Amino acid sequence: MATAPWWENAVVYQVYPRSFCDGNGDGTGDLAGLLARLPYLAGLGVDAIWICPWYPSPMADGGYDVADYLDIEPAYGTLHDADELSAAAHDCGLRVLIDIVPNHTSSRHNWFAAALRDEAGARDRYWFRAGRGPGGDAPPNDWASMFGGSAWTRVEDGLWYLHLFAPDQPDLNWQHPQVRSEFERILRFWFDRGVDGFRIDVAHGLEKDPELPDAGPRPAAGLLSITAHPAWDRDAVHEIYRAWRRVADEYTPGRVFVAECWVADNRRLARYLRPDELHTAFQFDLLKAPWRAAELRAVIDDAVAQAQAVGAPPTWVLSNHDTTRVVTRYARSQPDHPVEPHWERARWAAERADLDLGRRRARAAALLQLALPGTAYVYQGDELGLEEIENLPDNARQDPTWRQSGHADVGRDGCRIPLPWSAEHASFGFSPRGATAPPWLPQPAHWAALSVAAQTEDPHSVLALYRAALALRRIYWAGASGAIEWLETPSDTLAFRRGAAQCLVNFAPDSIDIPRGFRVVAASQPDVDRTLPTDAAVWLTPR
Ligand code: NOJ
Repeated sequence: MATAPWWENAVVYQVYPRSFCDGNGDGTGDLAGLLARLPYLAGLGVDAIWICPWYPSPMADGGYDVADYLDIEPAYGTLHDADELSAAAHDCGLRVLIDIVPNHTSSRHNWFAAALRDEAGARDRYWFRAGRGPGGDAPPNDWASMFGGSAWTRVEDGLWYLHLFAPDQPDLNWQHPQVRSEFERILRFWFDRGVDGFRIDVAHGLEKDPELPDAGPRPAAGLLSITAHPAWDRDAVHEIYRAWRRVADEYTPGRVFVAECWVADNRRLARYLRPDELHTAFQFDLLKAPWRAAELRAVIDDAVAQAQAVGAPPTWVLSNHDTTRVVTRYARSQPDHPVEPHWERARWAAERADLDLGRRRARAAALLQLALPGTAYVYQGDELGLEEIENLPDNARQDPTWRQSGHADVGRDGCRIPLPWSAEHASFGFSPRGATAPPWLPQPAHWAALSVAAQTEDPHSVLALYRAALALRRIYWAGASGAIEWLETPSDTLAFRRGAAQCLVNFAPDSIDIPRGFRVVAASQPDVDRTLPTDAAVWLTPR
């Protein structure tokens, strides 16, 4: 019998390299730092790491502005370091996924430099157009950048170019054969070096309506509010992924693509997962759902049903480098608040965040996520229960969203703060002793108590919970059926069985009884035995 591909039950840990660990003391995370911490990740019990873009980049958008797809950002290390890292990760039993950014290049990429110089044919690889109105002074259409403002910037000779994100991220024209062949070359370059797969940035955005029609009035811009738009989720995009799949299939089995597609629903997402396209895609509904039983059950049912229909694993994302940290999202007493993207936060930021509440729910959510069938993604720092840092000084903010939104949206820096490793010195062990520069974003003083070292000492820490749950997941859930069997429970609670094990989550204000005849093998709160308190979860097996 064929064994399931490794990713079908994997836990993938997301590394944001700039903020993970600084090996050389310049205040920016790097590959040496990541290499040194691989034993931590292997010990945590994850199966794979996904490394956010590590390519040379001016860092206009944290590395999602790639200047050269075939090299490593000098602040992070060298190609040799990347090879060493992949080999060492594999030696630790960790697969390595890297990020590929095909929707746009950096404005410093050679291709765009040639386009700015108007070299013959160079502009055809991007979207250059004349403006509208007298003198062509208005942008060619009404498209908005995801980060705020127009999606068009004018160059010196009067034409405009399209950028769905920052002006430093010009959109590529995927109708151009060189764009297609170049990215297939890039995929092979990294597959040949031994990476196990790619997370595809903005996978739903590569094909635009070539007429570039106006989009018309839309709700607020933002990744999470995708509606019908001539730039997103167009049929033509699938041909690109069929070609990419053929590239992956040239290699030994086990290579995987994970699509970042903010599309309308799981049915649209399924179109990317046809047998000759991508292997998996992020499902973001868990991240978007409020902390309430009914909504979460609906999200789980829909994801599992859709996964079964297409033959891809369901995937579960609680947070990532683009969204408010899970602790902070769950920290408002009103769970009705949409679990907001950053740009909607202003609507309810005035309400006090109860981080103890948020952390308690985040612990329960971790047990829920890790009990579900399919692939689970854990964003760095969520295993420490880090919260969003909402009060960064304005002059520290680096996310282009802050500037492009005219300071209406604080952006995503608050979920990208360098990790605290120890309580010991200036950067909580993010940088080595004697570092020449402070961390690239300031860390809050109280994070000493949330550091890896501090939490390792505490058997009730969030880190201890993750370590235990990841080990127990292999025993109780990894081999269990992909189907969810829901069990009868009181209102505003969830209970399901997979194989012999059960997961029970209590969203209601009062404690509920744990069914007789069962043993608690994991609990999100200490000392859970006969009853399960509010905002807590347990894993149970028959006695
Ligand atoms: C999605 C990435 O996750 C985000 O960080 C980035 O800003 C945009 N794509 C543009 O590349």
